[in-house]
Amino acid sequence: MKIIHAKDYADMSRKAANIISAQVILKPDCILGLATGSTPIGAYQQLIKWYEKGDVDFAQVSTYNLDEYRGLLHDDPQSYHFFMRDNFFNHINIDLSRTHVPDGSTTDAAAACAEYDRMVAAAGYPDLQLLGIGNNGHIGFNEPDDHFSAGTHCVDLTESTIEANSRLFDNIDDVPRQAYTMGVQTIMYARMIVIAASGEKKAQAVRDMCFGPVTPSCPASILQLHTNCVVVADEAALSLCPEA
Ligand code: F6R
Repeated sequence: MKIIHAKDYADMSRKAANIISAQVILKPDCILGLATGSTPIGAYQQLIKWYEKGDVDFAQVSTYNLDEYRGLLHDDPQSYHFFMRDNFFNHINIDLSRTHVPDGSTTDAAAACAEYDRMVAAAGYPDLQLLGIGNNGHIGFNEPDDHFSAGTHCVDLTESTIEANSRLFDNIDDVPRQAYTMGVQTIMYARMIVIAASGEKKAQAVRDMCFGPVTPSCPASILQLHTNCVVVADEAALSLCPEA
């Protein structure tokens, strides 16, 4: 793993955006794997600014998002479909028909997940996968477990993830209890992984990811085995990694 030190959230966002923008410039029809949550918002805002200046062109880019809450319609403001349009897609020249997010509105979980796996595989997997990390070391919604997951599947969210994500809902009872997520194996097929982390709350997970044993009890630790994984983390997120 290559660890890139950032000063703070803004610096982390610019550094992550720089890597994504380089990928799009090098391969204009690249496939980006994208994430939601608080972590990538700054990087998306930076990419939007560079798009507006004419420095980066998304016309031929395709995207596959990691995950979606089960049971939310695409227009639900809490859905990741909505999040991606609101925070990124509506502000750049991407062709919306090339953007993909697991279909949380499909109640047939097995069918929704199998279809998403088929699409990601048919596309050839992401050239670059952007990830955030959960306080408990999750990636996508792959929660700590006794095994690493394979393809897209339906998960029960842990209480800690429900609690962490409740900040974005009016009420903790409104947080969906299940989600569809790309599996760890699918994530590992990306040719490059950029995992961003900011803030003290991520410090233990970042330490476990980079320097702990490779174990499904910290799903992000599998990234140690990826041949091209870059961690972009700020001082607070790296505060428990004096060796970094
Ligand atoms: C979101 C996702 C999650 C988040 C993680 C961190 O698509 O896959 O794994 O990256 O929960 O969330 P934030 O960035 O809100 O701290």
